[in-house]
Amino acid sequence: MEIVYTKRPEMERITTIALAEKFIDEWVAKVRAQVGDGKVLLALSGGVDSSVVAALLIKALGKQLVCVHVNHGLMRKGESEQVIEIFQNGLDANLVYVDATDRFLDKLAGVADPEAKRKIIGGEFIRVFEEEARKLEGKIFLAQGTIYPDIIESVGVKSHHNVGALPDDIHFEGLVEPVQHLYKDEVRVVGRALGLPAEMVDRQPFPGPGLGVRCTGAITRDRLHALRESDAILREEFDKAGLTTKVWQFFTVVPDFRSTGVRGGARVFDWPVIIRAVNTVDAMTATVPEIDWAVLKKITDRILAEVDGVCRVLYDLSPKAPATIEWE
Ligand code: XMP
Repeated sequence: MEIVYTKRPEMERITTIALAEKFIDEWVAKVRAQVGDGKVLLALSGGVDSSVVAALLIKALGKQLVCVHVNHGLMRKGESEQVIEIFQNGLDANLVYVDATDRFLDKLAGVADPEAKRKIIGGEFIRVFEEEARKLEGKIFLAQGTIYPDIIESVGVKSHHNVGALPDDIHFEGLVEPVQHLYKDEVRVVGRALGLPAEMVDRQPFPGPGLGVRCTGAITRDRLHALRESDAILREEFDKAGLTTKVWQFFTVVPDFRSTGVRGGARVFDWPVIIRAVNTVDAMTATVPEIDWAVLKKITDRILAEVDGVCRVLYDLSPKAPATIEWE
């Protein structure tokens, strides 16, 4: 399907619930007119953008919307469970959950190049999604959580798998992309107006390739486990310290090199965990916040005590530029 993205039309910035409600009403009518009695398929990652699109389309179409949540094995701890809880149990969505962990990790085994990893994750994602799409009958539309910065960034050097990578041998009647002209802050206001919980709407951005770009080099299950557990500890402690809404994006990274440590009187050769936290307006440049030493120390102590195979914790002080936010 040929997609032509257009420039954002002249429109008021959506800063209030009232403006968001107007936007929602317009789109509910537009989508109903576009889709009729057809079905709409949406890849629901659980990120802000696809979640807001899901909530909007559930409002417009109810069970005519089929949400597919693909767990690629690179989700953060508890994330897939949260998607099921909010959408299936809370909003009574038509949700298909696919645990494709082994499939993705097998394909990624031994692949160290960051762009090759992104391509595998994006490509495999589309294949899993295609398999679900083929199971549907009738007129099928495809919905996507593309937002305006995705469109602008997709001409850059990085492949963003949510733009320009559609299942190409499946016939879709059309594309439904209600937030394609919105900036992130506007998407959040729309999400709030739709009644999505704050922890979902205010959630920090999470890249499509997920933890895959934070487990540097060739992904291994032991490092991925260390990454997921350390990331969960970081999020928990940032939350307790009131930092979740003050820091734009924060996560841990587990690089593919080891360092020497001592545990129980014996030498070990274990992984380091790197804490990455940044503040930014548009992700084009970023600064590193001065996190309270006591908070960093608590996180370090917990990671060293609770996460197997880790003997060292570091805080990344590098701004963007020259460092990017992600490690690869
Ligand atoms: P960088 O690392 O380029 O990241 O400074 C800027 C922002 O983009 C996110 N990011 C991605 N998002 N697919 C995505 O959907 C990707 O491949 C990707 N790479 C980076 C990153 O998390 C940050 O918010």
